[in-house]
Order: sequence, then C-alpha cells, then structure tokens
Amino acid sequence: MSLDHANETQTPSVVPVSEEFAKTAHIDAEKYAALYDASINDPEGFWAEHGKRLDWMKPYTQVKNTSFEPGKVDIKWFEDGTLNVAANCIDRHLETRGDQTAIIFEPDNPDEAAQHITYKQLHTSVCRMANVLEELGVRKGDRVVIYLPMIPEAAYAMLACARIGAIHSIVFAGFSPDALAARVNGCDAKVLITADTAPRGGRKTPLKSNADAALLHTKDTVKCLVVKRTGDQTTWIDGRDYDYNEMALEANDYCRPVEMNAEDPLFILYTSGSTGQPKGVVHTSGGYLVYASMTHEYVFDYHEGDIFWCTADVGWVTGHSYIVYGPLANGATTLMFEGVPTYPDAGRFWAVCEKHKVNQFYTAPTAIRALMGQGNEFVEKYDLSDLKVLGTVGEPINPEAWNWYNEQVGKGKCPIVDTWWQTETGGHMMTPLPGAHALKPGSAMKPFFGVKPVVLDPQSGEEIHDIPTEGVLCIADSWPSQMRTVWGDHERFEKTYFSDYKGYYFAGDGCRRDEDGDYWITGRVDDVINVSGHRMGTAEVESALVAHAKVAEAAVVGYPHDIKGQGIYCYVTLMNGEEPSDELRQELRTWVRTEIGPIAAPDLIQWAPGLPKTRSGKIMRRILRKIAEDDFGALGDTSTLADPSVVDELIENRMNRA
Ligand code: WT7
Repeated sequence: MSLDHANETQTPSVVPVSEEFAKTAHIDAEKYAALYDASINDPEGFWAEHGKRLDWMKPYTQVKNTSFEPGKVDIKWFEDGTLNVAANCIDRHLETRGDQTAIIFEPDNPDEAAQHITYKQLHTSVCRMANVLEELGVRKGDRVVIYLPMIPEAAYAMLACARIGAIHSIVFAGFSPDALAARVNGCDAKVLITADTAPRGGRKTPLKSNADAALLHTKDTVKCLVVKRTGDQTTWIDGRDYDYNEMALEANDYCRPVEMNAEDPLFILYTSGSTGQPKGVVHTSGGYLVYASMTHEYVFDYHEGDIFWCTADVGWVTGHSYIVYGPLANGATTLMFEGVPTYPDAGRFWAVCEKHKVNQFYTAPTAIRALMGQGNEFVEKYDLSDLKVLGTVGEPINPEAWNWYNEQVGKGKCPIVDTWWQTETGGHMMTPLPGAHALKPGSAMKPFFGVKPVVLDPQSGEEIHDIPTEGVLCIADSWPSQMRTVWGDHERFEKTYFSDYKGYYFAGDGCRRDEDGDYWITGRVDDVINVSGHRMGTAEVESALVAHAKVAEAAVVGYPHDIKGQGIYCYVTLMNGEEPSDELRQELRTWVRTEIGPIAAPDLIQWAPGLPKTRSGKIMRRILRKIAEDDFGALGDTSTLADPSVVDELIENRMNRA
C-alpha cells in the first residue's frame, strides 16, 4: 500500500477548536492557560490541590521533593501520604456506582458473549485474587510477574497486587519464554500468573507452555498461578502450579487494602533502551495514580457515564495507565478487548465501538494505517455516532493517517488527541486537550499541566529559546508520574536519563517547536527503533542474532515501513565458511522470534561481508541507516572508516537486494 493513494481529501493544516465541544469540555483554552501557568509557577500548590482527586488514608503534607542533579537524582511526590491504589480504583466507587460496569470484556471471538463486570463484582474478584496471592505467600513488597492475555483476570491480578502491596511486573503475552524468564529473574518474582492458552485473532498462544519453558530457567521456588481461559489441556507440576479458578472459589471475598506509602512501588515494567538488555522501569503509587487519573479525565475529556476504550495491551504502559489505573480511578467504564483489529475482518474495531457505544477511542497509528489500507467500507458499515474523542499514541502519526482517522472514523466531529509520552513518564506528557487546543495533524501540540518541555542543542546541550526551532527534547522538572528508578540499578537510571544533558530528563526523542510554539515529535535520536508503536532496542536484536551459531556479527537499524512506521533491518555477517541462503534468512528470522518474541522478528536481512566501522571499531550506524533507506547519495562523512570499500559492497548488495 502506498500512503499517498489513500489520501482522498486534503489534510487540513490546522483544525480549530470546536466551540460546541469547548462548551461542555472540562478544559477550554482559557482554563488551560490558567492551570498550566499555575502548574509551572507553583508546582507545590498546584499538585497539593490536584492530589486531592484521590482518597488518601493519611493525607500528605509534603508535595514535591525532586532533584535531577547528576549523582543525586531523587524523585519523591506526596512522600508522607499513604493510600491504597486498588481502594482508589474500586472501593471508593462502591457506594455511588457499585452496580455500574467497571470493565466491559470483549472476547477475541465475536460470537462469544461480552462480559459486563460491575464495580461490586470487580471488588469481589480482586479481593479473591488478593487472598489467593496471600495464600501463595505473597506479601507487601514482593514481586509478581503477570503473563496474561487481555482478559479481566489481568486487571484483577494488577489490582490484587496493589491491594496487598505487592509489586507487579507484566510481561506482554507476545514475549518468548526466554524474555519471560529474564523478567521473572530480573525482579526475583515469587509468583508468575499465566493462563492455559490465549485466543487471539482466531489462533491460540500457548501461554502456560511458554511459562513452563521459562520456569526451567528460574528459581525452583517460583510458583505458577494458572487462570483458565480456554480449558485447554496443559502440563501440570504439582507443588509448583496452582489452579486460580479453583482457589478463587474457595477464597474469601473480602481482603483489606494495605496502607501503602505514596512512594512504595506499584509496578515494574521492562522497556528497551539504546544499550544493553531491557530495564525495569519503576513506578510508585501516589504520584502515578494522581497523574494517570487526571490525564485520563482531561486529555480524553472523560465525563461520568462515558464508555472508554484504549486498544493497547495491558503488557504495555498504555494499558496500565489508560485501560486499568486511570479509568478505574475515575470510576469510568473501561473496555478490554482480547482480539486484534483485523479479526474476523478489518471492521472489528468499529463493530466493537458500535456494539458497546464507545465514547472515547484510543489506538496507535500503526493500527490506523493498517485499517486505512483495507478500504472505507469496513468503517462505513457501523454506527460510530457515540464517539466523541479519538486518540493516538506510540509514534508520530502521518497526516494521511490522521486525516483518514478524522474523516472516516470521527466523521470530522471528534477531536484527535495525539499523545506523546513514554513508559518512563507514566502518563501523557504532550497532547492537545480536545476543548482547548486547535489540532495540527502530526503535532503533539502542548505540554500537559506540570510538564516543562525544553528543546536543547544536541551538541552544546544548551537550551534553545527560539521559535521555531529543532533539537533534542528534554523535560526541565519532575512531574508526579515520572519513573523513580531502574529496578535494582539506580546508577543506570541516572546514566540513561540524566547524564547526557545535565539537569534535565532526556527523553530520547527529537522534536521541533513551530512558529506557534507547538511541539512536533520527530522520532528517537538514539539506537531505539519504533516498530508498530513498540519500542525495540537495536542492541537487543543484535545480541539475539549473534547468539546464533552461524552469525559472527550483526548490526540492526530501523527503516521506513508503510504500516509499522519502522521496520527492523539487519545486517548480518556470517561465520567463516557459512553460506548465505534464503533458508538461513528464514532460520534467523525464526531464531529472533523465539529469542525475543514475534514483535522483534527482522523484516529485512542483508548479508554483510563486513560492517562499516571506525578505526576504533565502532559500527557507523548512520551509514547503515542510509543504505537501508536506499539513500546512497547522502552517506555523509566516511573519512573515519577503517575500510571504506565495505560501504561500496553493502550498497551494491542493497541494490541487488542480496
Ligand atoms: C516512545 C515511547 C507511551 C505509550 C506508548 C509507547 C514514541 C510515543 C508518541 C507520539 C510521536 C511517540 C516516542 C517515545 N512515541 N507516543 N504521540 N508521537 N512519538 O511507549 O514503548 O515507552 O515508547 O514512543 O519515540 O519516546 P514506549
């Protein structure tokens, strides 16, 4: 598919705020300006006020205690307050909306009945799961790894951990046994929660058998709690495996929420970086929940009674903040979808929107591009008149996709919030607010309250005050849902985010600030690539490749891909005596899939007799990126190459698609 041909109407350059919309919106332009100024001029006062959106067991008196100073990076919010996150997401709603639906579960198979789980039922299920975990020996501060599909039990498991003060670490169900084992070991988990098998797109993922394989490489003491999703037969090891459904039936339906400090960890979530293996991002309880719930309400202009659907997986931060914690803290009805956008056909998203009368819909540009390529008839069939706000996240959205989303899905009447944020930021950092800001297709527009973006010169590290300008994007001060540390490695935290540009949080993205002061994210400036909205460290794929017996060396870069945004391009040097072949290409692809997971599968593998290196042996990725983009004319300075002929050979191979 070519993106150009999908563009039937002209993409507008600016869409003004709808006055109609602004009338009922929580935040209009005037309010935004006043609140934003207050949040920057007096963060203490601002957050002291907005922290009250939660129920605290012991109210905080300290609001902000944060330092970005190299060697002393320390981030604390509401540090003397105590609360329980699960009680905030469930218990406090019981009196006013106990019978309201908290979670709508839409199964993979459209013929299987959807479930409507009320806040009361959610309370019971979470209490039961919490008691089951306690029975398995889980206590406050212990880690629990969750390896579940998109089923209500995933939310129960998260909230059950929060209820008893355990720290959850969710591993996306698409990750391999090796990746799972690394994460179980990384946080020394006591329990791994999984399911028998997981239906997805009409196929099934063998989660329990993946878990079995992973558990061969962990401590013997790790217990495995198995949720029945399909009833498929699985291997069973007595004394290690526990049947969740059986235990839940026996478990007490009340469990007291544990009093937690605002700064007690709520969860760990692994994410890829430019170097090394994925790191465990740590989020804590109070600040995270304040910010997740506030952004959920204001960015999506969520109102009482609205049905909210975020299509992400709970295995990513988007699912944490905008399927579970943000919406439930606000007493919303949140939809959990087990399936994929194209099953049984490319109309599934819109069928689900119609069926459940979805009001806010939040998805990724890659899904929009894939569906746009399938034709408009899949959208036109459905009544989407309940939609009020559309959102995107994960990567920059190209104007053609934005326009299609706006016209075909939103019928020109739903503001689109393009939300820029990261696993590390816990919640939205920059986005238009639907009742406050004009929209520019492809721009994340404005910072959310309390966020102070700055553009730095990449060389000097100096702040650039000009408008318009371009540079690296940093954040000048802390916000409540900022990650606190890398699990078990505070030094890595400081080094990754606070050492390149002293005194700032460095996001890893580049950006442009236009003549109106609006922000445009231009993509990663490090060795991280963004594949279908998922972050992938090129180093991770490289280390998987070189772990193969026939591979001597590998270098991985991103290249433009119509649907995925970026594809994974691998240059591979084989061991002496190994012959390149299509079979070997396939073998390497399968190898990476099993080492990391399907999301890391190489799109293109080019045989490289040698890799371009500096005299000190550093691979010059800039050149490899250009070759992958077929941009041979602009290779830049190649004078520092140890052996310039390597490049000619790579170009020739690329031209021959060898
Ligand atoms: C990276 C973070 C946070 C949820 C999903 C991804 C890119 C994210 C946008 C956007 C342009 C975006 C950035 C960022 N990104 N949202 N709206 N426009 N780029 O989370 O895996 O932590 O990845 O995704 O490059 O650094 P993540």
